[in-house]
Amino acid sequence: MSSAAWVQRLSNDDCSSYLRQAIGEGLFERHDWILIHDLNLMEAKYAALDAAFASESLHAVAVKANPVVGVLRRLVARGAGLECASMEEVEIAARAGCPPDQIVFDSPAKTRRDLAQALDRGVVLNADNFDELARIAALLEGEDRGALKAHVGLRINPMVGEGAIAATSVGGRVSKFGVPLEEAQAEILAAFERWTWLTGVHVHVGSQGCTVAQLVAAAKRIEALLVTIEERRPGQIVDVDIGGGLPVSYDTATVAPCVTTYADELRRACPTLMSGRYRIITEFGRAIHANCGVAASRVEYVKTYGGSAMAVVHFGADFLMRPVYNPDDWSHEFVALDPDGRVKTWPAQPYAMAGPLCFGGDFVGREVMLPALTPGDFVCARDVGAYTLSMWSRHCSRAQPLVVGATADGPLEPLRAAETPRGVALDWEQPREGSS
Ligand code: LLP
Repeated sequence: MSSAAWVQRLSNDDCSSYLRQAIGEGLFERHDWILIHDLNLMEAKYAALDAAFASESLHAVAVKANPVVGVLRRLVARGAGLECASMEEVEIAARAGCPPDQIVFDSPAKTRRDLAQALDRGVVLNADNFDELARIAALLEGEDRGALKAHVGLRINPMVGEGAIAATSVGGRVSKFGVPLEEAQAEILAAFERWTWLTGVHVHVGSQGCTVAQLVAAAKRIEALLVTIEERRPGQIVDVDIGGGLPVSYDTATVAPCVTTYADELRRACPTLMSGRYRIITEFGRAIHANCGVAASRVEYVKTYGGSAMAVVHFGADFLMRPVYNPDDWSHEFVALDPDGRVKTWPAQPYAMAGPLCFGGDFVGREVMLPALTPGDFVCARDVGAYTLSMWSRHCSRAQPLVVGATADGPLEPLRAAETPRGVALDWEQPREGSS
């Protein structure tokens, strides 16, 4: 079985219809570029995830992929939990209405203060290493264990090898995250024997660039560990967090794997892990959001120097950091539209897509084949719903754009206001809230 929504990308025609709606609603009278997030498609992707796993599972969507609270609220309303990489993200999750016991807190740098707060709030807390477990143990000393609201797990590096993209792979022999399974098996078992409040195992092997086979191999290793822990401590493990990392398609030629296939493979390869004895936790981010987002910018200038054409648009390395700095691993498809928002269909020619930032390398795409562009046209960048706004860079201090949500009917819903020049200036000014 597969779910069409999980692999669906917003098409060129979808970009056109949302852009036309935005133009009709007058948004481009006030904005040079906007971000549109298709909330229906996002909800359909979440529904596919929910249907693929047992109903008791917790699907904690990774906040770092898209922290816009209005977007997260939609997911939380559907029953989603939220995976947080910082206390700030825990705060964001709370603002999105996520109950504490559906918040999963993962970070390799949790301070004692973070840990105390996380235990207090009663979140699912995945410790990254043994020293962190010792800090948790110290905090729990003298506490009534029966009253412990939080669930505590340990992140394991399953050591299944790196994926295709080094910077987002965390399952190699040496990783910044988790305790290495082969190297530290004895200590892992000792930790579970020593601390009865340690009731979860956590694994995540990477983001984009990993295959389903790699994700399943990681789960299989975790299952073997589970079985060993069970022999010594029957019933202690409650949660099995299998992380996120299912890749998405960023181009027409690639078909992304479906979550249903992944869950079926897991059931086949890891029957104990998937037996229903454990609560399965997932942490998908990219696959929920990336294909739901479109950035629409007016083309400000078109320049032709030395026979090469460049189109200047309003998003650059501030918004598409990875494609600008690491174009061999990351790229997006672009659509050219006329001033009324209709897809242009004339013969294509190569364009360099120049961003607005003040450095020579700020190109969000090179040799992009597009119909002839003139100032006043629009360009949409596709599949920008994840790890774009959340990786925003302040370089050159340009304002973050308006974010609107699209639904099947009704006007575009404002989800996050655009920043203003004054707002950005104040952001750089001290003192401000929180400083002392
Ligand atoms: N869980 C943990 C512990 C993670 O570190 C991540 C992503 C996820 C879940 C979600 O993975 P996803 O399902 O979204 O692939 N574009 C960014 C990617 C960083 C991803 C980091 N972790 C970058 O280029 O750095």
